Amino acid sequence: MKILMVCLGNICRSPMAEGVMKKLIIENELTHWLVDSAGVGDWHVGELPDKRAIRCARNHGIDITDQRARHLQKNDLERFDHILVMDQMNYQDVIAQTQNSGLHKKIRLLLDYKYPGKQRNVPDPYYTDLFEEAYQLIKEGCEAFLHHHINNINPG
Ligand code: 4NP
Repeated sequence: MKILMVCLGNICRSPMAEGVMKKLIIENELTHWLVDSAGVGDWHVGELPDKRAIRCARNHGIDITDQRARHLQKNDLERFDHILVMDQMNYQDVIAQTQNSGLHKKIRLLLDYKYPGKQRNVPDPYYTDLFEEAYQLIKEGCEAFLHHHINNINPG
């Protein structure tokens, strides 16, 4: 299973989401799962995650300093099984990449797994500095995604 985390800049939310999901993958021995992240904007391509995101993840025992920002590519929508976006703006930006409605069903708000149908966003912490709040929501979403898929693989 290939999962792509997507936000605007790929330096705050989606790198933390990649780090959280990688940790869950290791803890649950889901060796066939793969996770990556990308941004719908290209301003930060090649950069390390934001220092505040690095610090926040580190406070939770997760090192994200191996990550470098990259721009979402059209073929990411084909390569990945699940495109998990942080907010509704990201959702619209990713949807706009393709007219193929078969690919549209891969794209979902991360928090939809925790709060189905509620259209909840992980608010952008870049200007607000609310990294810990974003981290907690990301963790909830990643755990809910994992449980959804593990339960579907092993019903009962
Ligand atoms: P992210 O946060 O989408 O969570 O990585 C942002 C990072 C950079 C900018 C906006 C949001 N920016 O405008 O440069």
